Amino acid sequence: MKLGCCYFPEHWPEDIWADDARRMHEMGLSLVRIGEFAWSRIEPEAGRFDWGWLDRAIKVLADAGLKVMLCTPTATPPKWLVDQMPDMVAIDGQGRPRGFGSRRHYCFSHRGYREQSRRITKALAERYGQHPAITAWQTDNEYGCHDTVLSFSKAAAECFREWCEARYGTVDALNTAWGNVFWSMEYRSFDEIEPPLLTVTEANPSHWLDYRRFASDQVVSFNAEQVAILRELSPGRDVTHNFMGFFTEFDHYDVGRDLDVATWDSYPLGFLEQFWFSDEEKRAYFRQGHPDIAAFHHDLYRGCSKGRWGIIEQQPGPVNWARFNPAPLDGMVALWTLEAMAHGAEFVSYFRWRQAPFAQEQMHAGLLRPDSVDAPAAEEARQVRDVIEQIGEQEIASAKAALVFSYEAAWVCGIQPQGKSFRYLELVYECYSALRRRGLDVDIVSADAALGGYSAVFIPSLPIVPDGLAEKLGALVCPVLIGPRSGSKSENLTIPDNLAPGALEDLVGLKVTRVESLRGGITGVGDGWTVSRWLEETESGLTPEFTFEDGQDKSERGVVFAKGNFRYCAAWPDRSLLDLLVDRIAGEAELDLLTLPEGIRIRRSASHTFAFNYAAHPVDVNALELGEPIVGSNQMEPAATSIWTIA
Ligand code: GAL
Repeated sequence: MKLGCCYFPEHWPEDIWADDARRMHEMGLSLVRIGEFAWSRIEPEAGRFDWGWLDRAIKVLADAGLKVMLCTPTATPPKWLVDQMPDMVAIDGQGRPRGFGSRRHYCFSHRGYREQSRRITKALAERYGQHPAITAWQTDNEYGCHDTVLSFSKAAAECFREWCEARYGTVDALNTAWGNVFWSMEYRSFDEIEPPLLTVTEANPSHWLDYRRFASDQVVSFNAEQVAILRELSPGRDVTHNFMGFFTEFDHYDVGRDLDVATWDSYPLGFLEQFWFSDEEKRAYFRQGHPDIAAFHHDLYRGCSKGRWGIIEQQPGPVNWARFNPAPLDGMVALWTLEAMAHGAEFVSYFRWRQAPFAQEQMHAGLLRPDSVDAPAAEEARQVRDVIEQIGEQEIASAKAALVFSYEAAWVCGIQPQGKSFRYLELVYECYSALRRRGLDVDIVSADAALGGYSAVFIPSLPIVPDGLAEKLGALVCPVLIGPRSGSKSENLTIPDNLAPGALEDLVGLKVTRVESLRGGITGVGDGWTVSRWLEETESGLTPEFTFEDGQDKSERGVVFAKGNFRYCAAWPDRSLLDLLVDRIAGEAELDLLTLPEGIRIRRSASHTFAFNYAAHPVDVNALELGEPIVGSNQMEPAATSIWTIA
């Protein structure tokens, strides 16, 4: 695995570049990502390119033995371009144009901007595509960051109409698919269709789902246009795009299909603070991040790009963008880096080389302080360099458990939550955590992935069951867990004729006849576990495997039903019920489980077992009986990593 950093030569006087490059090399870094926001310096005015500084920056890096990942700068269209085409900016969900003065202000559907994106990509690829130091390209930067996948512009409306026509053929077919007879929403022609913007109350959910599908497709095609140019003019180089954490606004499997390597930007402390974790967890892990945040994304994005992946932005210290921005515990930066290695990363690159003293991210740490002195993360990067040297390249081991993740499922649950605490992403994450608490390695896969090689398959929730999936599942002999809301919607987000779980009914042997969502604090109580948030009433000839007592009327209700190798869970399970289910399924699948102390996580490469201590206190892992580690110790300090050779 390589180490690297994100560098912005345009932020620093040219006379310090060579020393920066020398220090990067000394620290063990070999990959440098540059250029992602540099459009105003590459092309200060329309058609006038200034390549000199970039030529020299690449040369300085290359002379120091560093390889370069060059980015297309399309996340930051410069002022002259916005002035030239003021309608290229995205329109937000309130119908307001997004202003100039930060980044990501463009609309994916604007044809003029598309042309500009191709033009600048081509200019860069023509100049540097064959440069020996350029080994990889990154398209744009973080599609969708700052809520920018959806745009409600005129350009988007026009493209959406074309998209609808291509999908439905006739406007009658669209009216029927969406159920537009309801509230007299019928259209007479495709030209009348608008984005779901500023409707008086909620827009038709089917309209929304198609708008999300369309918006996702716009990201995919925007990316694909750049990729095609880069492949033609810069053959032999990897093309990547950097995905974000806990982000579902476009289908990453679809974008991933066009990439060689998926990368993602790992900010575990920021993500802990910004997402649904309890206050207690936020306090327990404030300097570490919740133990599954990084691993979840490693496994998710590995599944988005034929297995090749890396981290292009790794948090090196406090960030600037979360509600609170603590510093990582000493050792955490090294732990995060090695955890990525254990999950098969090809590289981990830190964001950023030096903290900038100006502009929006001046409070964001780097490997160096603004005064160029090493920040604490610099020494941790050196430690990781030494560990990599010691243990050598790691081959990814194949996981036995598959967890199905669907972007469309996230959209459906967001468009029609029915209960505000039904958060699809959280449910998937909770399932993932339950597997990881028992030491299982997990592959996160799409709903159309091949599932045949796995020993156990977990589908936390899948409202729309893609064509062919029921048959594919039916052919599996391993245990399969299917969660609430699965099969509850047709492709157009309507209720299937045979009700939920639709196409899965025969497999799981039940029908869902009614659902209810519950506010916090209302639970159904089982034997050592509870269900909450979401309850389904079912009709089934099966004897339930688990029952709970309704908190209100004390009736006994079935919640988990087993038929053959299939189990259906008809509620939002708490962690204890998930643990029970994982234990049963792993038992049936003959998977080896570990009882990991709180805060400890394990991941195996083909040759090594890695353990990570996310707890804020020392943990003794002798009970795991892994023998003597070659790195670290069985008495793990907070933020420690230990590594054992697999015999
Ligand atoms: C990422 C982004 C970077 C930088 C970083 C700060 O979302 O790609 O450009 O803003 O966050 O943490």
